[in-house]
Amino acid sequence: MIINTARFVISNSDYRKCPSDMRHEYAFIGRSNVGKSSLINMLTVRKDLAMTSATPGKTMLINHFLINDKWYIVDLPGYGYARRSKADRDKLESIIKNYILGRAQMTNLFVLVDSRHEPQKIDLEFMEWLGENGVPFSIVFTKMDKQGNNVGEQKTAAYCEKLLETWEELPPVFRTSSQDKRGRDAILNYIEEMNRLPLLAEPEQ
Ligand code: GTP
Ligand code: MG
Repeated sequence: MIINTARFVISNSDYRKCPSDMRHEYAFIGRSNVGKSSLINMLTVRKDLAMTSATPGKTMLINHFLINDKWYIVDLPGYGYARRSKADRDKLESIIKNYILGRAQMTNLFVLVDSRHEPQKIDLEFMEWLGENGVPFSIVFTKMDKQGNNVGEQKTAAYCEKLLETWEELPPVFRTSSQDKRGRDAILNYIEEMNRLPLLAEPEQ
């Protein structure tokens, strides 16, 4: 897919104030500092579309970006940043969870995981929660450039093995780097496929 236009539309703390037009939308979530905003810039080939920072906790709101005037990318706040107060963490968690459960337009949630790390309880529990709530998601391993290819392959394969201890099957998995753009085509192709499907699932009979 060619990205012709990408523009910031609005930031919100309440999902009910997000754009009301009915377009496919794809949200990016994961621990603070995992590389959500960098991935969005990489996908859209815009340097500063989403604000990035070496300091965790940069993104505090639900940010909508309109792509090719046709679909949205949503940058979400990271979860689990330990140096935030409990009250702030709870507030962010409710912003995120209300958005995920309430936003009918959200076609897929990309859950980002740092490819260098062992499976972390907070991510595994978050994915469990998504499963329990029937939220469609995929896993994106980030920062693949920060280690050798073989190590990266091994680590991410081990991560998937761990998931298969509790999941019957894996969701789609992408291996990416915002530095060298790996994984870009795979994610954009996946989005392009989903953009062809009807926006809302048929109501159950
Ligand atoms: P919050 O909004 O704070 O939750 O963080 P975020 O998940 O949006 O992370 P962000 O994109 O701001 O990136 C955090 C840091 O990791 C920045 O210093 C980025 O430059 C760096 N980074 C992100 N992705 C990559 C990557 O693929 N490779 C490398 N080498 N660095 C990356
Ligand atoms: Mg961010």
